[in-house]
Amino acid sequence: MNQDIEKILLSEEQIAEKVKELGATLAAEYRDKNPLVICVLKGAVVFMADLIRHMDIPCEMDFMAVSSYGSGTESSGMVKILKDLDTSVQNRHVLVVEDIMDSGLTLSRLVELLRHREAASVKVVTLLNKPERRKVDISPDYSGYDIPDEFVVGYGLDYSEKYRNLPFIGVLKPEVYTK
Ligand code: XMP
Ligand code: MG
Repeated sequence: MNQDIEKILLSEEQIAEKVKELGATLAAEYRDKNPLVICVLKGAVVFMADLIRHMDIPCEMDFMAVSSYGSGTESSGMVKILKDLDTSVQNRHVLVVEDIMDSGLTLSRLVELLRHREAASVKVVTLLNKPERRKVDISPDYSGYDIPDEFVVGYGLDYSEKYRNLPFIGVLKPEVYTK
């Protein structure tokens, strides 16, 4: 696996430091709010698992899986719910946890949906942000690292469902895509 990586963009240590910092910020923000922390499957699962262990407050978690309609690597404007929440968000303070904000289309639709379901508040925390790629007017409420417009894998992020278990975030060698 490691031999498929061209370069490491964020090391395990850099990620851990940032996740700890975000956890402390979020714990202060959501103290006494019993937030519903929503993991957007599958990419955010590793980040979420680490993040909540740095949030020393009562909170609950739930999971959602969505996919953008359309083909290829570009998001379209529509999201299809593949797995919905088990919990009602009505009157809850909701924190959506994402791996990466790219065009922003997925998250803008998701936030809209959760507001429509009458959440008390909806905020987004993303570990990675590609601001150059934004197609809609949305920015994360909390963000770990801005990264350049390169396709990244590891720490939950995949290429063709692989590499999610790498402990760091890196860029694949070009030949991996053409295999
Ligand atoms: P949008 O464009 O709607 O989509 O903000 C966000 C989703 O796109 C995926 N994505 C990536 N996945 N490496 C990945 O493994 C990347 O560099 C990358 N950029 C976007 C991801 O699923 C995210 O939730
Ligand atoms: Mg993916």
